[in-house]
Amino acid sequence: MILVLNGPNLGRLGTREPDVYGTTTYASLVELCEAAAPDVDVRQTDDEAVMIGWLHEAADTGAKVVLNPGAWGHYSYALRDAVSLVAEVIEVHLSQTAAREEFRHHSVISAVVRGTVTGLGVEGYLAAIRVLADRQ
Ligand code: DQA
Repeated sequence: MILVLNGPNLGRLGTREPDVYGTTTYASLVELCEAAAPDVDVRQTDDEAVMIGWLHEAADTGAKVVLNPGAWGHYSYALRDAVSLVAEVIEVHLSQTAAREEFRHHSVISAVVRGTVTGLGVEGYLAAIRVLADRQ
């Protein structure tokens, strides 16, 4: 199982700052991810407790995770601690965070993930899913 977990505001993809995040809607992102490999489950929440619960679920079931933490990735040590529990996580950001505001340059979860994909839009999710699916 591959869980594709999306943090706050990512449910608004398609209409949210399309110049930054592209015009693919969240519904299309779900379809593309589910078509990329068997056994892919795509979720989104604006509630940090829910996200931490999903990461605990992955730790317990052995699911691999593609995680777009949204803004939480820049500051949430609680999220980082939960990511540390999961065997394999790839961090994804749609936008090129290093080219944006200073506060987006640092990720508190990068040190505890297998790899990070930034700036490739939806293709970044698909690349991450391919990498995890090859190792199942
Ligand atoms: C994001 C980048 C974050 O800085 C931002 O807060 C997001 C989306 C991205 O996918 O580029 O919500 O994670």
